[in-house]
Parts: sequence; structure tokens; C-alpha cells
Amino acid sequence: MQDVQAALTAVMSLLPAGVRYPPELLSRFDGRAPFDREHLGYLCNGGEAGAYNQWLTLLARHSGAGRIVELGNRYGVSTIALYCGLKNTQELISIDVVQDQRYLPDQVRNDSRVRLVYGDCLNLSIFGLHNVTVPCNIDILWTDTVHCYSQLKDEFNVYEPLLSDEAIIAIDDINLNDKRRFFDEAPFAKFDFTRHCHVSGFGVLHYVRPPENRGESIDARESQCHPEMVAPASSYRWLRASTRCLRILQTEMAQSQCCLPWCSHSRCLSKRFDTRRLPAVGVGSASETPQ
Ligand SMILES: C[S@@+](CC[C@H](N)C(=O)[O-])C[C@H]1O[C@@H](n2cnc3c(N)ncnc32)[C@H](O)[C@@H]1O
Repeated sequence: MQDVQAALTAVMSLLPAGVRYPPELLSRFDGRAPFDREHLGYLCNGGEAGAYNQWLTLLARHSGAGRIVELGNRYGVSTIALYCGLKNTQELISIDVVQDQRYLPDQVRNDSRVRLVYGDCLNLSIFGLHNVTVPCNIDILWTDTVHCYSQLKDEFNVYEPLLSDEAIIAIDDINLNDKRRFFDEAPFAKFDFTRHCHVSGFGVLHYVRPPENRGESIDARESQCHPEMVAPASSYRWLRASTRCLRILQTEMAQSQCCLPWCSHSRCLSKRFDTRRLPAVGVGSASETPQ
């Protein structure tokens, strides 16, 4: 990957101009359905609600990354964002425990640069189950799964050996629950792009492997993370983290402090989105309103 700091600077300078997504990538959104319009807004609106998707597109396009791994892709919105920036030399591996990537058009699903993997991302055996090689030398790790410190820490422990010697770790929603603790503790150069990218927090780490561990073979690194990655243990961890997160989020909702970025209550929607700015799309439609 090219110089990480230079890549981040380039992305931030291009972000204000925004990204326009080609209509064929938006063809699975039903422009008449509020739910779909909400998710389309995450992609197209930019600003504090959804600029992180446009940031991801620009990062893929301008970072010179080879391998990008996405943890948590629900409905495929951020997957479309990454895909839109993908060059021919790049590869995107996207993982979710739920098989519902409803907005992903066939163009993305059938692209040989893209691999969709289903299962708990903490369990590396899911790759083998999908005939996908465990991704090594990851240049960009984008994580947006359960919004808890423990989940993020577990993900780092599992994927750190698989990162390139220098990599970008992009973390959504760092200000939700106790997630920020991970960002604050991380001993790497860090950038809080919340103001530019996402109202609930958006953090980026410039991971640099310690000199003494650089240059290890992929086999050696892979063997560091395989032994403890047995399904029951990680599934349990995931369940525990999810249950805890759910409890925290339910409390937030009860206190009317809903900050779920995907909440589709009309009250929250109207706070977050200016739906007039959305491109006009319909099921199977390839039209886009010029802005
Ligand atoms: C907030 S959503 C992702 C949204 C998506 N990144 C976007 O911006 O459009 C979180 C997703 O993480 C998934 N998830 C939660 N825990 C996971 C785990 N341990 N492994 C894989 N996926 C997980 C959930 O199924 C859910 O689809």
C-alpha cells in the first residue's frame, strides 16, 4: 500500500466534493420505500450521517490497498461503497453473520474481486467453509459489527496477525457504548473523523507492526491466530457481546437518546436525513436525478 498518511490526506481533501454512485450500483434500492431511502441516504447523502461510506469509496480508490476486509456489512450498503472504489488489482472480502445483503446488485456478487463470507468474523474457519483463503496481508480492515469494546478488541486480536506490516483500520461508531475505549487505547497514530464522516463516531488507526515482528511469513502469522479460533468459544464471545450491546442499546432507546445509525423511527430519520437530496431510484431502475 502507498504511504498511509498521504492516502488519508488525499481522501480527506476529496471528501467534501462527495461521491456519485453509478445508478447500476443503486438498482436494488426501492426509492419509494422509506427503509430503502434511509439506507440510500447513508450512501448518497454524505455529511455527518453517511459520509463514511463516501470516505470508504475514496479510500479504496486512492489508498493503493491490495486487500480490503469488511467486518459487518448488513444489507450491503458499505460493501457497495467499497466496491465502487475498487480497482482491478484490489480484492474485497466482506463478512457478516447474517445472510441479507439485499442492496448488493449481481454486478457486485458476481465480481471475482469480491468474496462474501457468512459467519462469526471471530472464527477464521468461516473462510474455509466458503472456499475462501484466510485473508492475509490485509491493507484495510473496516469494522462495523457489534458496537462494543470487547468485540473490537477480539476482532483486533484475531485480525492483527493478518494485517500487512502497515495497514488502515477504520472503525465505525466509535462513540457508541464503550467502543471508544479501544480507539483511545490503540498505540497507533489515530484520526477521529467523526465530524466529517459519522455522527456516532468514526475513527481511523494507522496500524504499524513492531519492527521485531515484521517480515514474518504468512504461515507463521496465520498460525498465531488459528489455534484459539474454535467455533464454540468465539460464538459464545459473540453472543455475550451482542447480548450486552443489546441491553445498552435498549436502555438508550428507552431514554429517548436513540443514536443507532440504522434506526428507522421517523423521529430519528427526520433528524438525520434530508431525503430531498436522495437520488431517485426504483427497483431495477437505473435512473439518477442530477443534483
Ligand atoms: C451496523 S451493521 C453493518 C452496517 C454496514 N457496515 C454499513 O455501514 O452499511 C452490523 C452488522 O454486523 C454484523 N455482525 C455482528 N457481529 C458479527 C460478527 N461477530 N461477525 C460477523 N458479522 C457480525 C451484524 O449481523 C450486522 O449485519
